[in-house]
Amino acid sequence: MADGSGLRSIADQRVLVLDFGSQYAQLIARRVRENNVYCEIVRHDITVEQIAHHAPRGLILSGGPSSVYEPGAPRCDARLFNMGIPVLGICYGMQLACDTLGGKVDSAPAREYGRSQCIVTEHADLFAGVPDKIDVWMSHGDQVSRVSDDFVPLAKTGTCPIAAVKHKTLPVYAMQFHPEVTHTPLGGTILHNFLTAICGCSGTWRLGDFAKEAILKMRAQIGDARVICGLSGGVDSAVTAALLYRAIGPKLSCILVDNGLLRKDEQAGVIAEFTNHFKTDLHVVEGEKRFLEALAGVTEPQAKRKKIGYEFIECFKDEAKKIEDARFLAQGTLYPDVIESGAAPDGPAATIKLHHNVGGLPAELGFELVEPLRDLFKDEVRKLGLELGLPEDLVWRHPFPGPGLAVRCLGEVTKPRLDVLREADAIMIAEIKAAGLYRSTSQAFAVLLPVQSVGVMGDARTYENVVALRCVNTDDFMTADWSHLPYDVLARISTRIINEVKGVNRVCYDISSKPPATIEWE
Ligand code: XMP
Repeated sequence: MADGSGLRSIADQRVLVLDFGSQYAQLIARRVRENNVYCEIVRHDITVEQIAHHAPRGLILSGGPSSVYEPGAPRCDARLFNMGIPVLGICYGMQLACDTLGGKVDSAPAREYGRSQCIVTEHADLFAGVPDKIDVWMSHGDQVSRVSDDFVPLAKTGTCPIAAVKHKTLPVYAMQFHPEVTHTPLGGTILHNFLTAICGCSGTWRLGDFAKEAILKMRAQIGDARVICGLSGGVDSAVTAALLYRAIGPKLSCILVDNGLLRKDEQAGVIAEFTNHFKTDLHVVEGEKRFLEALAGVTEPQAKRKKIGYEFIECFKDEAKKIEDARFLAQGTLYPDVIESGAAPDGPAATIKLHHNVGGLPAELGFELVEPLRDLFKDEVRKLGLELGLPEDLVWRHPFPGPGLAVRCLGEVTKPRLDVLREADAIMIAEIKAAGLYRSTSQAFAVLLPVQSVGVMGDARTYENVVALRCVNTDDFMTADWSHLPYDVLARISTRIINEVKGVNRVCYDISSKPPATIEWE
């Protein structure tokens, strides 16, 4: 979580989200930033002294899975309501605000989850410009059953008589529903009202300013030393490198480890971009032979990941040793990674994401870290990439896992099998792009299955490989739905793969959502 030492000067108007374990805390922060107001997520038990250090314009108390009336439920420093800083409580945040300021929270007659219609009874400031009846998204088991006379009710629903309130004398507002989710269509207006009319934010935060400040900050941190940056072909490492290139130019050395598990033409693409456009000192490690030898005979998915992780670190270390005067290592860590890894084990979050990231480098390498993207969300990284002149094609590339095609080549990973997979994958992506669907889908790829199936080609029987197509839509990659691709696009992909890729006679489409399936097959 943010520690307050971040890029303070990039935002003199900032809002803090106090995280009570909501799955939506990051979404709230994103929505605030979409209003060009800088926003950070902080622990729920931040003290008023620490809050004062951030000098925020507003505080948002997130939702969370706990019940305020239960022992051990996460609470905030009660003094924050008297700081004179506007507070917005959402769901659990509302219950906490009302409980602290003299109201009562009870278990609702029925747990409410989903769309609900809300009647707005008071339109001043928070609900300005919002009609009398709005659709809202509810997700709660408890609700505020009584408020003290200090509160004015602002809205109600059929099952929740106190759905939004405001304090009469303190700048404290609260709502039971979630304005941050798209299922509350006017939630954006309500948040905008809070940020502008109530907090007085003028929406001056810009990514361009972020880039300028980040460059100055990196120059101060790095001085004359050399920085190594690993390139993976993905957008995060590319934007990190592009930003560093702006900051220190020739003092940047990039390493691309070609593990032989990259997609078709991927190595050539990265080389072209980082030598033609950025003219960086690029070291390409030809690791295919080494990785494929390590993977020979390995079929178990976790074992594959471990072997690849180990080889990657060895290759990177060997290459880094050759780069004299390197003192720093740049990593494309993003804000969600910072929050997730910073969540205390006894923190309020109900679920903690388990990372299976391969490609991380151990601290023993002895470099100091430079992480210029650690305050940004993925969509902000993409915008920044475009501002820095990276091509659209790279900036909008679907994510690709560190272990590469190894986890999409089910069974043993061999060069001939990888080549089949690469061809099939390239066809799938080309057709999805041709149909104009690449940007509206989150991740698309082909998987080579470890089974053979019978087919007929011409008059002859074939017994060949099966390729599965996977295409998903997701906001956060934690849950995902399979993409409902048009039949004609699926048909074209299938026909082309079977006709053009030697050794494949059957194509299937994966129609599983996550959960219970995962996005990758291994
Ligand atoms: P799953 O398969 O867990 O994937 O639903 C969620 C997202 O994470 C990516 N992924 C990985 N990324 N190293 C990575 O860097 C890995 O080992 C790894 N496994 C999965 C996956 O592509 C999807 O975007």
